[in-house]
Amino acid sequence: MAEKIALVGTGVIGRSWGIVFARAGYDVAYFDAADGVVAHALGEVDKSLADLERAEMIDGAAALRARMHPASSLEEALDGVIYVQESVKEEVSIKHAVFSAMVAVAPDDAVLASSCSAIPPSKFLEVPTPHRCLIAHPINPPHLVPCVELVPSPWTDDAAMDRADEILSGAGQSSIRLTREVEGFVVNRLQAAVMTEAVSLFARGIVSAEDIDKSMRDGLGLRWSFMGPLETMDLNADAGFASYVEMYGKAITDMGQDLRVAEPWDEDVIKRIDSERRKLVPAESHAERRAWRDRRLIALARHKDSEDAG
Ligand SMILES: NC(=O)c1ccc[n+]([C@@H]2O[C@H](COP(=O)([O-])OP(=O)(O)OC[C@H]3O[C@@H](n4cnc5c(N)ncnc54)[C@H](O)[C@@H]3O)[C@@H](O)[C@H]2O)c1
Repeated sequence: MAEKIALVGTGVIGRSWGIVFARAGYDVAYFDAADGVVAHALGEVDKSLADLERAEMIDGAAALRARMHPASSLEEALDGVIYVQESVKEEVSIKHAVFSAMVAVAPDDAVLASSCSAIPPSKFLEVPTPHRCLIAHPINPPHLVPCVELVPSPWTDDAAMDRADEILSGAGQSSIRLTREVEGFVVNRLQAAVMTEAVSLFARGIVSAEDIDKSMRDGLGLRWSFMGPLETMDLNADAGFASYVEMYGKAITDMGQDLRVAEPWDEDVIKRIDSERRKLVPAESHAERRAWRDRRLIALARHKDSEDAG
């Protein structure tokens, strides 16, 4: 019999996690506190599976879907699980209550992970048996973007980090491990550095919103989709990283002094960026543009899979 994983909270993120685990062969229990959410989630999953099947990224949607089961209580969802992925609302009191309830009913050896984006784990993971609780923060949608950040609370033990890593990596995710908690973790800190400077360049009238996006889409992002900023530095100088720093390090750290990454955002600036965006993608086309994003991610994932296999 297949091993079982439970999803607690099956909104935008939880339902996508279900595809990750079912694709890896696990039985997946879907549990949500609100009526009708699981049925809606499974309906959305069907659409995503059809896209994946069309792109030949899964063998059969039906077999995968047959491994997903609605659960009508937390006890039923967590019965016999090896791992739980919590994806409820991003609020300390809710997460703390959900983890307190989960550790009371989960099998003793199950690892419990939270999809939490921004709350430090020490704020909600002080529950009985805290050694097996941690954050596994995905990037939306996790079934198309594999990176997941494993963040320990002060009480998480190495065995739980290892087990979460083993399960998530085994399911095809690309895990990164933090040694301790830090505000925003790693991915959102890097993203915040870019987003805050992007808003500032627009606010200063230096460049349009579209041109900022172009600089990433047709520039930096091309490299960054298959290697990171540090490897970029390493490969941009014939003699590698240290020589790159020798040539450009001072210019970059000088620029760092001038970056506007800690300025409040002006309301008028937000309105002007929004209006530029709505001209490019009108409100009524927003959902279609998100579907377009997912199709592009599928195409990119296929390309990367075939390159990795080669
Ligand atoms: N949406 C993203 O881009 C994104 C990315 C990474 C991480 N996250 C994180 O994932 C988590 C979920 O975000 P989302 O976007 O899926 O939110 P969402 O609002 O789409 O879904 C949250 C779900 O949790 C359910 N819920 C609330 N309390 C519950 C409880 N006590 N027991 C069971 N279910 C409960 C709600 O009914 C809802 O269906 C958050 O911590 C969020 O920060 C979101």
